[in-house]
Order: sequence, then structure tokens, then C-alpha cells
Amino acid sequence: MPLRGTKIGRVLRQRRDDAAIAWTFFRQWLKAPLTTAAVSPSSKELAAEMLSQLPDGTRKVIELGGGTGVFTEALLARGVAPENLLVFELNESLHLHLTQRFPGTKIVCADALSTARVVEREKFAEPGEIDAIVSGLGLLSMSQELQHGILEAAFSVLAPHGRFIQFTYGPTNPVKRDVMRDLHLSARRTGFTVWNVPPASVYVITRAKSRGIKPTRAK
Ligand SMILES: C[S@@+](CC[C@H](N)C(=O)[O-])C[C@H]1O[C@@H](n2cnc3c(N)ncnc32)[C@H](O)[C@@H]1O
Repeated sequence: MPLRGTKIGRVLRQRRDDAAIAWTFFRQWLKAPLTTAAVSPSSKELAAEMLSQLPDGTRKVIELGGGTGVFTEALLARGVAPENLLVFELNESLHLHLTQRFPGTKIVCADALSTARVVEREKFAEPGEIDAIVSGLGLLSMSQELQHGILEAAFSVLAPHGRFIQFTYGPTNPVKRDVMRDLHLSARRTGFTVWNVPPASVYVITRAKSRGIKPTRAK
């Protein structure tokens, strides 16, 4: 029976696309389990929890660790203009997948450690013009040094009111206490969803009042 154009046909096509995306992600996890840091992409429910924390009037957003694009898709659907979104993905295969899936969006194959340099190189924004950084990075499995480098670079481009929005599968803030203290950051848990494999919490990290890293040009 021909199903094209029917509701069942659309549901089946969506399932097939989702399965292909999950398979793409899983293959990268097999190759690089530590940096991929999850066996399957985040759920749409987790994406919604993350994006509910964008500051009011958000314009410019950076996404770190785009993966197969669940947050990218949600950000664009929410009205972030493609030219106001800059996505970082370190894995070359996932970077290629993202560029094919979101042709109008600026997606770089780059390390989150180089956020400030890439923002300047791509002429994406002036320091302090970024409203939010949506992070899909597996911070929990990163060393203290790597966390420090990534968060320092992130807060050097974030606006004074800017938010670093992060999810974690762990029971507490995934950013180590020393990193939070050294960079004068503060964190609050803003959400939790069981509709993700595994269930995940969302944390919003901001500058602690009056002390955080000021936006600066890349070194
Ligand atoms: C846990 S997955 C999340 C993917 C996607 N955001 C999601 O939620 O489904 C982490 C992603 O971050 C990427 N990644 C890991 N370290 C990175 C780094 N230093 N810079 C940029 N991307 C990185 C991995 O390749 C992987 O795609």
C-alpha cells in the first residue's frame, strides 16, 4: 500500500531518519568513546530543557559539541537565525554530518578550547556579544585542565549576562569545584528529564556577581 504523503508515511520516514542519525552517532562513539561521551544523541526533551534557559531576547548563540545536531535543530526551530549560530564539533565525521544537515549554519570543525580565536577568525561576534553557549560537551569525563581551558575561553566571549548551559548525567554540577572557584563562576541546576538515555540534569553556569571573567579579545 503506498504510504507516501500520509501521516503513517511521515511517521515512518521520521523513524527511519532518527534511526540513521542514532546509528551515525553510535559509530562515532565506537571510534572515540571518551570524546563522544554518550552512546546516543540527546533527546528532544533534553533539548527543550536546555533551550528553556536561554536569556530573554537571545540573539547570538554558540553551540559546543554539536554531535548529530539535536540542539542545533532546536535552536534554529526556536528562531535563532542561522547567521547568529556558531556550532563547534571536533569530530570530522560528525562535523561533515552537521554541515550537510544544516547547510545555512556556520559549523566549524574545531576544539571548544579555541572558542575565542574562532569567534574572532569567523568574525562571528565582538567579545561580550554572545548571549548563550549551549554545551553538549561531555565535561564530566574531562580533566580539570581541559574544563578550565574550555570555560575560560567560553566566558571570554560571553556577554556579562551570558549563560553557559550544560547538561550532565551525573548527580552534581559537572564542572569541578576548583575550576568554578578559579574562574569565579556560579552554577544552578535548572532542570531534569527522565526522557533521555540516560536521564539528565541541566545546569546554568554564569559569572559569580561582579567577579567573573570579563569579555576580552582572543589571545
Ligand atoms: C555527548 S556528545 C553530545 C552531542 C549532541 N550535542 C547531543 O546532545 O546529542 C559530545 C559531542 O562533543 C564533541 N566534542 C568532544 N570534545 C570536544 C571539543 N573539545 N570541542 C568540540 N567538540 C567536542 C564530540 O565529538 C561529541 O559530538
